[in-house]
Amino acid sequence: MIRPSSLAAAARPLLTSAARATPATTAAAAATAARLSTTRMLRDQHDASGTTHFGFRTVREEDKESLVRGVFSSVADNYDLMNDAMSGGVHRCWKSAFIERLAPAPDTRLLDVAGGTGDIALRFLDYVREQNGGALGAAHVTVFDINPEMLRVGAQRFSKLGLENGGPHVSFVEGNAEELAGIEDNSMDAYTIAFGIRNCTHIDRVIRQAYRVLKPGGRFMVLEFGKVNNPLLSTLYDAYSFRVIPHLGQILANDRDSYQYLVESIRKFPTQQQFVDMMKHEGFQVVGQGYEDLTFGVATIWSGWKL
Ligand SMILES: C[S@@+](CC[C@H](N)C(=O)[O-])C[C@H]1O[C@@H](n2cnc3c(N)ncnc32)[C@H](O)[C@@H]1O
Repeated sequence: MIRPSSLAAAARPLLTSAARATPATTAAAAATAARLSTTRMLRDQHDASGTTHFGFRTVREEDKESLVRGVFSSVADNYDLMNDAMSGGVHRCWKSAFIERLAPAPDTRLLDVAGGTGDIALRFLDYVREQNGGALGAAHVTVFDINPEMLRVGAQRFSKLGLENGGPHVSFVEGNAEELAGIEDNSMDAYTIAFGIRNCTHIDRVIRQAYRVLKPGGRFMVLEFGKVNNPLLSTLYDAYSFRVIPHLGQILANDRDSYQYLVESIRKFPTQQQFVDMMKHEGFQVVGQGYEDLTFGVATIWSGWKL
């Protein structure tokens, strides 16, 4: 038999929590949920045994960097062609949208990390020129990348356009996004990283370094493959990714493995919201939801401010 007093006891926690559900407690609960989601996601990126993922493979943390380096050394000469082939040229629209959202001024100092062959840097300088009556003003971009082959292809490309490495508007610097060695604290107006951060072993360290080098008021922007939230489109996208892209890699670049890694690494990257939580965790402020999906979330732009 259930006694009235036990009914009252059972009801008490419910009544108590309902009575306490003030806006402050709701906000605190949301913050706790965000922290847990960030912690879970970080645990998914590396675990206590010192392993991480390289695509769907589990590898030792210290091995990932050289494996990623191998991928980009292998694809460097065909990188631009493959981007067009895989995306049907759509990556160009994503990158242009990315720079339009950044809307740099003629005196912007940009650090483009994982800048590779310079796609973002070129769009940055084009944007400034268009907005500034054909002049580049004091605009400067540092293309920063861990891979010398990617940088070599980029520097050659810029040189053909009359923009010399080390000149007034561009420099190419080799280094790791997780350290940003040689880049001073509070020295940059903007930091961009396009299709680069998912290749890094410690995403949290990359974001922390971005925060360090940005000036107060500086902007952090990430362009990366997101998650497609529509179930039907997501199924089609998966089929295309896993069945077509590695074949294209084989046919066009004689390199199936690098493109298999590409599609797998996209699946291992945090969700749109998890990445926002990571940015906030490192100190960035976001406006609105903090991200914008492009092409149904195939690509996503995240944006944060160092205030
Ligand atoms: C897919 S490419 C993107 C290149 C360019 N941002 C673009 O959008 O075309 C990824 C780049 O990230 C670079 N990368 C990978 N890990 C890195 C790290 N830890 N630090 C700096 N660059 C890294 C690779 O060398 C490669 O050039």
